[in-house]
Amino acid sequence: MSVLKGKKIVVGISAGIAAYKTAHLVRYFIKAGAEIRVIMTPASKDFVTPLTLSTLSNYPVASSFYNKNDDSAVWNSHVEYGLWADFMIIAPATANTMAKMANGICDNLLLATYLSSKCPVYFAPTMDLDMYLHPSTLKNIETLKSFGNTCIPATSGFLASGLIGEGRMAEPESIVAFIEKDLSQYLPLKGEKVMITAGPTYESIDPVRFIGNHSSGKMGFELAREAANLGAEVVLISGPSNESVSHPLIQRVDVVSAQEMYDAAHADYNVCDIVICAAAVADYTPKHVATLKIKKSSSEFSLDLMKTKDILASLGAEKKGQFLVGFALETDNEINNALGKLKKKNLDLIVLNSLRDKGAGFKKSTNKVTLIDKSEKISEFSLKSKAAVAVDIFNEIISKINA
Ligand code: CTP
Repeated sequence: MSVLKGKKIVVGISAGIAAYKTAHLVRYFIKAGAEIRVIMTPASKDFVTPLTLSTLSNYPVASSFYNKNDDSAVWNSHVEYGLWADFMIIAPATANTMAKMANGICDNLLLATYLSSKCPVYFAPTMDLDMYLHPSTLKNIETLKSFGNTCIPATSGFLASGLIGEGRMAEPESIVAFIEKDLSQYLPLKGEKVMITAGPTYESIDPVRFIGNHSSGKMGFELAREAANLGAEVVLISGPSNESVSHPLIQRVDVVSAQEMYDAAHADYNVCDIVICAAAVADYTPKHVATLKIKKSSSEFSLDLMKTKDILASLGAEKKGQFLVGFALETDNEINNALGKLKKKNLDLIVLNSLRDKGAGFKKSTNKVTLIDKSEKISEFSLKSKAAVAVDIFNEIISKINA
């Protein structure tokens, strides 16, 4: 998922021929899940139509403080645009608009919005070669950078004038990639390594049979997605599950048995900052695995089972600064049982599910959790999608590691 998902973006367009490319930029932002407000300078409407931009952005384009031809004369508040936006991008940013931005001139809605905005501002210069190289333009770009604005540099190439050189606005795909990379450095888990166990384990009885459980892995996969969306590098150790995930920051390690999950978890533990054990690990495994299929020769059959290693407890025992989170699935005496596990396994946080709550537990796409921390603070959450529960769990973890 793109860091742009859910972002509120003001796209400012000034009057350069590259304005036609901004239509594509808006399209990419919308596809990434962002919300867009387009503000055009009056002269930019000669290069690309407001209808194109309002259609692509799903919102009326603003280009003046109010519409003189409309009796209702609704005021376009530059202050509100500036407060609404998570960031603003001015693309294309012409020599004229940059000169005004650098000098506090605000003779149109875009400039007034720029001057009153408190959000990060990106600008993508475009102009002909000689204008771009003029000392005043270079000085204005430096001035804007000194204000904390971020320049997305123009590239070299064939210019609309026929000249070849620097001054082409960066391509829309490159602008999106630039902003995504820039924003991801501010994600709260950037630089952190997170390990998550998920799904069931299968304990072999013979070559065709196993002891398993109904865990789907959904909760663990949602936690992995959320951690990656927050910028963490994620190792997702999953037992057999039909869930799938595709995110450049998630490395999936598939395991089958409790022993394999134990080995995988210990292999990465020392380099992890946050570990969440969401897997439903088998508590017992057959003492001997038959090499050949067991035949139904007798009327009764029993299996000798032995305890599996408790992965979470072993990680708790070896903890060296990791933030360790466990799950507790309970049917009765929920809070006490969860607190007991939190202490016994040396956890920082435990996520309690009660099977008495409708909509919670295995195979559901919803969950209802109670979080209990080391100081025994209890936070109850309502029934939500597992994706939303993952957000709540990481909000709690981030508030704790930053405290
Ligand atoms: N867990 C684990 N390894 C095991 C068993 C459990 O890592 N062999 C982890 C689970 O991933 C979960 C937590 O321990 O985070 C709690 O699991 P649960 O089965 O509820 O608790 P148990 O300690 O096994 O106790 P009981 O089954 O008796 O309730």
